[in-house]
Amino acid sequence: MMFELGRYRSRILRDALWKCLLLLMCVLVRSSPPENPIRCTTFNSSTKCTITNSYGAFPDRSTCRAADAVYPTTEEELVSVVAMATKNGRKMKVATRFGHSIPKLVCADGDQGLLISTEYLNRTLHINESSGMMRVETGVTLKQLIEDAAKAGLALPYAPYWWGLTVGGLMGTGAHGSSLWGKGSSVHDYVVQLRIVTPAEHADGYARVRNLDDYNQLEFNAAKVTLKLEPLFKRSVTYIEKSDSDLAEQVIEFGKQHEFADLIWYPSQRKAMYRMDDRVPYNTSGNAWIDFPGFQSTPSVALAILRLTEEAEESKADADSKCRRAKLITSALRLSGYGFTNNGIIFTGYPVIGYHNRLQASGACLTGPENALITACPWDHRIKALFYHQTTFSIGLSKVPDFIRDVQKLVHLAPKSLCGVDLYDGILMRYVTRSNAFLGKQEDAVDFDITYYRSKDPLRPRLFQDILEEIEQLGMFKYGALPHWGKNRNVAFHKAINKYKKAAEFIKVKRMYDPQGLFSSEWTDQVLGLKDGLMIVKQGCGLEGLCICSEDSHCAPDKGYLCQQGKVYPDAKVCALASTSS
Ligand SMILES: *[C@@H]1O[C@H](CO)[C@@H](O)[C@H](O)[C@H]1NC(C)=O
Ligand SMILES: *[C@@H]1O[C@H](CO)[C@@H](O)[C@H](O)[C@H]1NC(C)=O
Ligand SMILES: *[C@@H]1O[C@H](CO)[C@@H](O)[C@H](O)[C@H]1NC(C)=O
Ligand SMILES: *[C@@H]1O[C@H](CO)[C@@H](O)[C@H](O)[C@H]1NC(C)=O
Repeated sequence: MMFELGRYRSRILRDALWKCLLLLMCVLVRSSPPENPIRCTTFNSSTKCTITNSYGAFPDRSTCRAADAVYPTTEEELVSVVAMATKNGRKMKVATRFGHSIPKLVCADGDQGLLISTEYLNRTLHINESSGMMRVETGVTLKQLIEDAAKAGLALPYAPYWWGLTVGGLMGTGAHGSSLWGKGSSVHDYVVQLRIVTPAEHADGYARVRNLDDYNQLEFNAAKVTLKLEPLFKRSVTYIEKSDSDLAEQVIEFGKQHEFADLIWYPSQRKAMYRMDDRVPYNTSGNAWIDFPGFQSTPSVALAILRLTEEAEESKADADSKCRRAKLITSALRLSGYGFTNNGIIFTGYPVIGYHNRLQASGACLTGPENALITACPWDHRIKALFYHQTTFSIGLSKVPDFIRDVQKLVHLAPKSLCGVDLYDGILMRYVTRSNAFLGKQEDAVDFDITYYRSKDPLRPRLFQDILEEIEQLGMFKYGALPHWGKNRNVAFHKAINKYKKAAEFIKVKRMYDPQGLFSSEWTDQVLGLKDGLMIVKQGCGLEGLCICSEDSHCAPDKGYLCQQGKVYPDAKVCALASTSS
């Protein structure tokens, strides 16, 4: 799992007002693409590099360093890079052009590591139209994969919704779309062949290319990947708004009824948007297009206003303002069809029908020339923009209804507590299926994707801090959820490895391919249960999800936040504002 890459489905929006401004700006200029996450400086012929994730901040806010970065352009170069580093016993990490996952997957230990970028390993190598096989290099983005496949009349049936992931990253983090049908929605379950480069012994020249045909494990360092695709097809999408009062009863059946079903849940508004999304005959008319607003290039000015507003609401504890804005933003999004257009230009209503490749993912802010950051992706950390945590976990289908009811109980006790989540377009619920991958999903599940405000100051509590912490602990510990490998705060990984029946087999393969652990790091060892220290216990650690609080100093006692029991889940220990909790 070294290929990290983030799936940052950030889900954010702007008010309808800004939309006009946005349209105008988009005509004039295009977006500044995300910055290159690797930065190296050479001084006195010695190089120093730093590397970061898409949000410019790891869960513990540390800076990750490396001694240099290389940009191989061919498999031969990659092999020689890995051989040289192996010979010298150097730590290595694989990095990409567009961004990395939230957890510290991309960080090599110490500051002498080597970053191997897949920026130039971005070619589609071969497509066999009759067999549906597509071979790509590891640095190919989802956008490129979808476009090249479609040109050959093929489609990857399920994928994440954000274009900016690379194939290596998709696989390394277990990224997925939404479906309970067929082989399910995890991209790695569509891989039929893999060429990976691993360290090797002196006798083998220190590096080795391995060809895996029967792909059944989450590997690392994949250099070439062959995917089995389907003939391109058309889909029809309709969103329906419903009360969430019977969400717990509906959720499983709904996932079985529609091939590409997902849900957007607005718990504070007691509503959910049901996405009815299925294949339709190829000759059905329609040429729809998705351009999700949260992934569009957004004027920096608008982003600054959004962030300043949110910061003001936080500092004034103004939950009412959050709830008002949440309603505005979610209804603007709903009216605008979540970025769907029926013909590529305007949204005139459901159903939205079109070719799968035009509907499955988007990410307009990913491409385009530099424009000095007049516009950017909404989470771009070079400007004052959105800054948030993402807690993402999957709960086995049979337990999902009870989890939903528990969250609803929390909303009942603190009705305004989740308005902040709606500002990031609610809780996205996607269906995922059991996988044979050693670190894949263990059973059919619903993945809950929750995005919420993060302060720039790690010691500053968030409004209704305790409620989201309780949801996180409910999911992970009461309902035994599996964490998304590429998202989450440290808490979500606490003892997570014990939830995987084949974890030991994963570690066996890892040791065989990389006996010296050159691609391992403190973080990957901690996550795999090979090393302690995943929980960072220190002042204020509960606020950032670095620990589960066990004493008040882990919260913010000077601001009235103390370590307390959960409201619905008594085993939860959360940082709660003392005066508002009983
Ligand atoms: C840079 O290198 C020169 C010559 O090797 C040396 O005199 C100088 O002190 C170095 N500067 C720093 C800041 O290391
Ligand atoms: C591959 O990456 C290089 C470097 O970023 C870029 O110039 C090139 O256009 C990319 N190729 C494709 C097919 O996207
Ligand atoms: C494409 O796949 C088919 C079926 O597996 C095979 O017969 C054919 O030789 C392949 N074509 C190429 C160019 O590889
Ligand atoms: C689509 O094709 C089917 C069978 O090929 C035909 O029965 C149907 O009328 C066609 N529909 C449209 C809208 O052309």
